[in-house]
Amino acid sequence: DESTSEKLVELAKRRGYFFQSSGAYGGVGGFYTFGPQGAALKGNVEDAWRDRFAVAEGNMEIDAPTIMPEPVFEASGHLDGFDDMLVECPECGESHRADHVVEDNTEYEDAESLPIPEVEDVIAEYELVCPSCDAGLAGQAVEAFNLMFATNIGPGDSDPGYLRPETAQGIFVEFPRLKEYARNQLPFGVTQIGRAYRNEISPRRSIIRTREFTQAELEYFVDPEEDEPPLERVEDVEVTLYPASEQNAEDGDEVRTTIGDAVDDGVIGSPWVAYFLGVAKPWYDAVGVDMDRFRFRQHLSGERAHYAADCWDAESEIDGNWIEMAGFAYRSDYDLSKHEEHSDDRFTIFKQYDEPQTVERAVVDPDMSYLGPEFGGDAQAVVQKLEELASRDRAAFDGETVEIVLEGESHELPVEKTGFAVEEQTEAGEHITPHVVEPSFGVDRLVYTVLHHAYSEDEVAGEERTYLDLDPEVAPTFVGVFPLQSDDELEAEARDIAAALRAEGLAVTYDDSGNIGRRYRRQDEVGTPFCVTVDYETVEADERSVTVRERDSTDQKRLPIDDLPETLSALRTG
Ligand code: GAP
Repeated sequence: DESTSEKLVELAKRRGYFFQSSGAYGGVGGFYTFGPQGAALKGNVEDAWRDRFAVAEGNMEIDAPTIMPEPVFEASGHLDGFDDMLVECPECGESHRADHVVEDNTEYEDAESLPIPEVEDVIAEYELVCPSCDAGLAGQAVEAFNLMFATNIGPGDSDPGYLRPETAQGIFVEFPRLKEYARNQLPFGVTQIGRAYRNEISPRRSIIRTREFTQAELEYFVDPEEDEPPLERVEDVEVTLYPASEQNAEDGDEVRTTIGDAVDDGVIGSPWVAYFLGVAKPWYDAVGVDMDRFRFRQHLSGERAHYAADCWDAESEIDGNWIEMAGFAYRSDYDLSKHEEHSDDRFTIFKQYDEPQTVERAVVDPDMSYLGPEFGGDAQAVVQKLEELASRDRAAFDGETVEIVLEGESHELPVEKTGFAVEEQTEAGEHITPHVVEPSFGVDRLVYTVLHHAYSEDEVAGEERTYLDLDPEVAPTFVGVFPLQSDDELEAEARDIAAALRAEGLAVTYDDSGNIGRRYRRQDEVGTPFCVTVDYETVEADERSVTVRERDSTDQKRLPIDDLPETLSALRTG
């Protein structure tokens, strides 16, 4: 029997949701085009995300470039650490993601979460075979493969750049300006909806794992010592959690609880992460994710990204497998500290004390005129680096020499020449590095889940029917308008009605081809909540009325034409 996913992928192609791109040239793995319905559904989901996570939370939205220069990713750790484990088949030469081979060939439950050295062990232990040609893979070396797409900025190869692997870095690098827009007041949040790129070794499951996809991310900057989330707004939200402790336990199970209890019981360690899980759960429900097939799963220690101190995923169940739709990570001060260290800008916030305080400060000699040409004559830059280092890490001056990095090059200076000293000073405040809480949503996986959970089959008048029971708020087409049969008068009336409904801001499709039953089936498959049919009664009777058919029940009612725009608009927003 075909799985729902197989049937959905067929329907998606047939009805204009999504299909593999560049098909005329044979298609290329991991790239998909959203057709007219898919682009509209994706747009509606993105609008709903913006309403909830940017507008309703009072956060700022930005739109940054997708290509960024190499130093950004040197600083962020992606150049060194954003790898997947690759195993090459000795027979057919195909490359596979090692943990996927594990998953494909054994019932290994947490395949995607295997800590790296274990992948190699498991490959040996289970005598795995190549998913493409069945050759044995035991004993094959597993190597790290960096997932970023590289390019050159401008002619030549002197300025390497990368397509961003997450939208987040576009927010972090602009922190020095963004903090000004937030008037240097924590907490504040910045969102971005945009493309991210990863050269996945094995793209698969249609739009679930692609090489170009859309993320909707919120980077929320907090003072770790003072700021607390408004947990009272979400404490009663009921959630299904799958904590790491339960995943590690022999009879471990999911935990049903509320956000408030999960924080009180220490199941969710970070109140900020808990807050955003509490915001996300009802939102997922509203856009059409089936809450019986939804949970939050905590990452095991071995599967966390290089920047994350703790992370919970929002997962949906698809044909018996759980897939990750979003990650809620506590990134601490990792990113801002790295950019502060690697760039010449300030990634801190000046926090005013209630009253000026006398504090011990490490200072360095502001006169570095003795410095030689190895520093490019830029004594100012050396002083700045030393000052930053002195305020962050006094112990760095404990030895004979101190190391600083200037434009990617490491230099050693004799400590005595830096003029390093600890002095008492009266200060009005201090620079702190904010911590970051990051709800990071994959839009494509959410769109897939919404479609998959909406996929329905039933029987109408003895015939099998397929329909998508999409929520009217996200359905890409809201109403289909049809003349009952080919007739100039009926067609003109139907076109007028379609125009009147479009003027109300509703997404309308007009269709006069094929018999009326086929037109209903077509809209059922698209997931159009309502269809309006114009017949002879509409144009001849004194009180002009039409038939309105509801998708899920297929019930039909007659409504006066004059009431249509208002009635349908009200149905859209529920
Ligand atoms: N800034 C954090 C971050 O990028 P992530 O867990 O790597 O975290 C966030 O990605 C979300 O992006 C995932 O939960 C998933 O929905 C989506 N995503 C990641 N890789 C993807 C891929 N290859 N194809 C489609 N969606 C992907």
